[in-house]
Amino acid sequence: MLVILKRDAEAVSLQAAELVASHIRRKPALVLGLATGSTMIDIYQQLVRLHREGTLDFSQVVTFNLDEYLGLAPAHPQSFHHFMHEHFFAHINIHPRSIHIPDGTIHENYDQYCASYEQAIRDAGGIDIQLLGIGRNGHIGFNEPTSSIASRTRLKVLSKETLADNSKSFSPGEKHPQCAITMGIGSILGARKVLLIATGAAKAAAVAKSIEGPITSAVSASALQLHPDVTFIVDEPAASQLTQRDYYVRVMEMTALLTPDRLS
Ligand code: GLP
Repeated sequence: MLVILKRDAEAVSLQAAELVASHIRRKPALVLGLATGSTMIDIYQQLVRLHREGTLDFSQVVTFNLDEYLGLAPAHPQSFHHFMHEHFFAHINIHPRSIHIPDGTIHENYDQYCASYEQAIRDAGGIDIQLLGIGRNGHIGFNEPTSSIASRTRLKVLSKETLADNSKSFSPGEKHPQCAITMGIGSILGARKVLLIATGAAKAAAVAKSIEGPITSAVSASALQLHPDVTFIVDEPAASQLTQRDYYVRVMEMTALLTPDRLS
């Protein structure tokens, strides 16, 4: 587990985008797992900038998004389909058939649909890099506390905390989806590399529990301790409850010297 500490959210986004970009340059047909949430917006902006500058080509990249609200059509302004197109896909040269986002409009045969999403990931050769944000309650994707560490793509009921956090994007009085389709923790652990991004003091407790706490289904992101290649990129406020910060700084310095590929 590599913990990269950055001064602020801007430096975090830059580092995360550079890391993803260098992997795409090394493997143009990269299979990229994507996340939504406000933390991701700046990262997508940086990737769009690199594309516009002519240094990043998405023509062969294949993407799989983590999750989608159940009951929201792709055109709904609060759907993750809409978010991804608005912040990322509309501005890069990815082929539409290479984009995969769970379908929030399904209303029967959920297990069959979710199994087909897992199959599509396998057919693409598996996810090379999975980008993750983190919820205040430690969720990754929409794997709410007590999600099984072995879980795969499935229907998930959202927690009260998540509903409250995400309600800010819905208009007052608008019906807020209670459920989502999300890749499972087991699906995420199947990615070859995992990159978790966290910024801001509201994420500090979840970050500390995920990196330094026990592995527990009460904090879904703590399951990442089981992954052989996971990198956390966090800013100062999000890192404020970590107790081993000096050690992470020394590891970063030694990594830059010995295995710089892990940082870029
Ligand atoms: C949603 C998404 C998560 C994301 C989280 C944090 O719940 N399903 O994938 O990590 O929001 O969002 P934000 O970055 O806005 O704090």
